[in-house]
Amino acid sequence: MSDKLMKLTLKIWRQKDADSPGKMESYQVEGISEHMSFLEMLDVFNEQQINQGNEPVAFDHDCREGICGMCSLQINGEPHGPDRGVTTCQLHMRMFNDGDTITIEPFRAKAFPVIKDLVVDRTSFDRIQHAGGFISVNTSGNTQDANNIPVEKENADKAFDAATCIGCGACVAACKNASAMLFVSAKVSQFALLPQGKIEAKDRVLNMVHQMDEEGFGNCSNTGACEVECPKGISLENIARMNREYLKASLTKE
Ligand code: SF4
Ligand code: FES
Repeated sequence: MSDKLMKLTLKIWRQKDADSPGKMESYQVEGISEHMSFLEMLDVFNEQQINQGNEPVAFDHDCREGICGMCSLQINGEPHGPDRGVTTCQLHMRMFNDGDTITIEPFRAKAFPVIKDLVVDRTSFDRIQHAGGFISVNTSGNTQDANNIPVEKENADKAFDAATCIGCGACVAACKNASAMLFVSAKVSQFALLPQGKIEAKDRVLNMVHQMDEEGFGNCSNTGACEVECPKGISLENIARMNREYLKASLTKE
């Protein structure tokens, strides 16, 4: 295990609040081990800033293990940075070299306004979820045992894959149209493939797509950047499924 510590130049987006203009600022950080995660590097950076009497940089995080979807950073122009299939909190500093310059920006989209520095407001995703990303089941007693409802293995696997979306927003940040289609289609697909999701299927897809448009996300033009940058490998196949569900619901809904 190498003990070599790196010195880096960080170009970080600083913005006082939602109403102030922001700009890139340049900093030095030292004492960075290749074994640190990207967020640990930012912790070290913030400690050094505080020791120098400067204001630390605000960034989002919670679980730090790829589950919560909070760590939304655009690193060297890519959501979650240069590695594949990982969130920012799972990105390791071994992906960088001593002397590197790293740019760190918030996820950019009209529907994700900046709150401060690198923190963006992603409650637009919550509102899309509230519009239909659930099933109405009475859980107050006599619920049927899950195993009594047969589900084809292929559908179960695809529903599970769709359900691994953590709502991080990297798909939006990666898209030149700031489209949320990958996220919304994952949330639609996880129910569309299961019998439990059939009852509210039409309302779900119509309401979620309507809310997505209301929030100001752009449309999908099939470039596929979302799939490449998604830390959970959510497939474009889900967008095709959502489009089919939407068409079916639009044509048959009374
Ligand atoms: S589809 Fe992927 S990139 Fe988009 S919110 Fe879900 S996990 Fe994040
Ligand atoms: S902090 Fe939870 S996914 Fe990164």
